[in-house]
Amino acid sequence: MPETRSVEAEIDRLYRAARFDGVRLLRALPEFAWTLLSQRRLSTAVNPHAQSATLLPVKRRVGEFLQVLALAVRARTIVEYGTSLGVSTLYLAQAARRVGGHVYSAEIVPEKCRAARESLRATGLVPFATVFEGDALVTLQQVSCGVDFVLLDGWKRDYEKIIALLLPHLLPGCVIYADNVNFSETRSYTASMTSAVSPFTSVLMFRGKGLLSVFHGAS
Ligand SMILES: C[S@@+](CC[C@H](N)C(=O)[O-])C[C@H]1O[C@@H](n2cnc3c(N)ncnc32)[C@H](O)[C@@H]1O
Repeated sequence: MPETRSVEAEIDRLYRAARFDGVRLLRALPEFAWTLLSQRRLSTAVNPHAQSATLLPVKRRVGEFLQVLALAVRARTIVEYGTSLGVSTLYLAQAARRVGGHVYSAEIVPEKCRAARESLRATGLVPFATVFEGDALVTLQQVSCGVDFVLLDGWKRDYEKIIALLLPHLLPGCVIYADNVNFSETRSYTASMTSAVSPFTSVLMFRGKGLLSVFHGAS
């Protein structure tokens, strides 16, 4: 299937669509209010299926940084938790195209999977990215080859579980970028990735919103 849009134009289109995320999130206002009242964790309260039209993409500077980083480490196997409509997937698939790599991206909302696949098709990036539909904790079990790049950008409560799932497959030098670690739900993830006994070296970036980690290898 020939490409019909440039990747840059498609990324611009998606960022324009994301300008209305605030309005879409208003639909979840009753859930947010209940969360505050009951002191539940935000991502436990917000059902991803109720946010099927909300993009919540990585910031442009984060997407551009991830693309350069994936190129720098010549990432062949890239795993992404949280595709949404595929902004970060497009950035990473562009890097994958250059180095002969592949992105395996997980998204639980079927409408979002369809939209992300359509963006990949329109931009000619289908050979470089696969969208797994369903709960990432299940679908990412399909990843069995050595992983050299991970983006964590789904619901925050699952970051630790996703890394535990992928750990046997991480290659030494694998880089992991976790977005939005300023949420209270990621406190335990950040603590585990920065602890002196962890097999990772980590640094906070983007004013504490991102955590970049590198895997030392199994000890
Ligand atoms: C912040 S958005 C991802 C944005 C995307 N990385 C981008 O830059 O365009 C988080 C996504 O994670 C998805 N998600 C939440 N829980 C999930 C789960 N258990 N498995 C797979 N996807 C999940 C949500 O549906 C949502 O689309």
